[in-house]
Amino acid sequence: MIEDSLFDESMDENNMPDVNTSAPKESDSIPNTIAIDGPAASGKSTLGKRVADKLGYLFFDTGVMYRAITWVALQKQVDLEDESRVTHLAQHTALDIQSPSRDDGRQCDILADGVDITWEIRTPEVDRNVSLVSSYAGVREALTLQQRKIGERGQVVMMGRDIGTVVLPDADLKIYLDASAEVRAQRRHAEILKRGEKSDQDQVLEGMHKRDRFDSTRKIAPLKPAEDAIIINSDNLNEEQVLLQVLFLITQRSRHQE
Ligand code: DC
Repeated sequence: MIEDSLFDESMDENNMPDVNTSAPKESDSIPNTIAIDGPAASGKSTLGKRVADKLGYLFFDTGVMYRAITWVALQKQVDLEDESRVTHLAQHTALDIQSPSRDDGRQCDILADGVDITWEIRTPEVDRNVSLVSSYAGVREALTLQQRKIGERGQVVMMGRDIGTVVLPDADLKIYLDASAEVRAQRRHAEILKRGEKSDQDQVLEGMHKRDRFDSTRKIAPLKPAEDAIIINSDNLNEEQVLLQVLFLITQRSRHQE
C-alpha cells in the first residue's frame, strides 16, 4: 500500500505529456511485480532503486548474481570456458543479498559463501567475463530458479536482461530501458572515474558493444524486450524524467485495474 504520493512536489511535471499525475488512491491496485530489463548502463539500476523506494518494494538487481558467480570462478581459477565446472559453481555457491552494512555507496551487500564481494564484482575483469558465464544454460537455470522464488513473494522491482521474458513472464509491469551504446559508455566512464578509478572511454565503448552483441545473440534468454514491455529510450532523458514516466505508467496501470 502506498502511503505518500508517488510524485514529489519537486518533480517537474512539465516534462510529462498532458497527463493526470495525481497519486493513486489507497484502493488502487499497484503493480505487484515490476520487471526492468535493458542493456548495460542504460540507467536501470538507478531507476529500479528509486521506483522500489517509492513503492516500499524490494529492489533486486539480478545481474549481481551472474557477476558473483563470475568472480567466484575467477577467484578459484576455474577455466571460464569449462561450462560444466562453472555450472557446478553456480549450483553450489550460496549467494546472499542483504541490506547495506556500510555507507560506501552500495545499494546492498552481496555475499558469496559468506564473503562480502560487493565491490569485487564490479571490476573490469568481471565485466569482461560475465557475458560468457551468463550464457551457460545450467548457470541460468540455477540462478533463474532463485530469482523466481524472490519474485513470487511479490512487492518487488526486479532488474536484469530476461526478467520480463523468462524470469517473471507474468510481471504486472514490464519496462525495457534502452539508450545508445555511446550514451551508455559515457555514463559508465563517468561512474568509474567518480569511484576514483582509471577509465578510457573508447575502451568502455568497445566493451559495451561487445557485451551488447554477446547478451543479445546468445541462444538462451537473450537480451530483448518482452512483447508486452514498454520501451523507454533514455538518450535524451535525465534520471528524473525517466522516473516520472515510469511512475506515470504505474499510476495508469493502477487505474486500469480498478
Ligand atoms: O546488469 P549487469 O551489467 O550487472 O549484468 C551483468 C551481466 O549479467 C550482463 O552481461 C548480462 C548478465 N545478466 C543476464 O544475462 N541476465 C540477467 N537477468 C541479468 C544480468
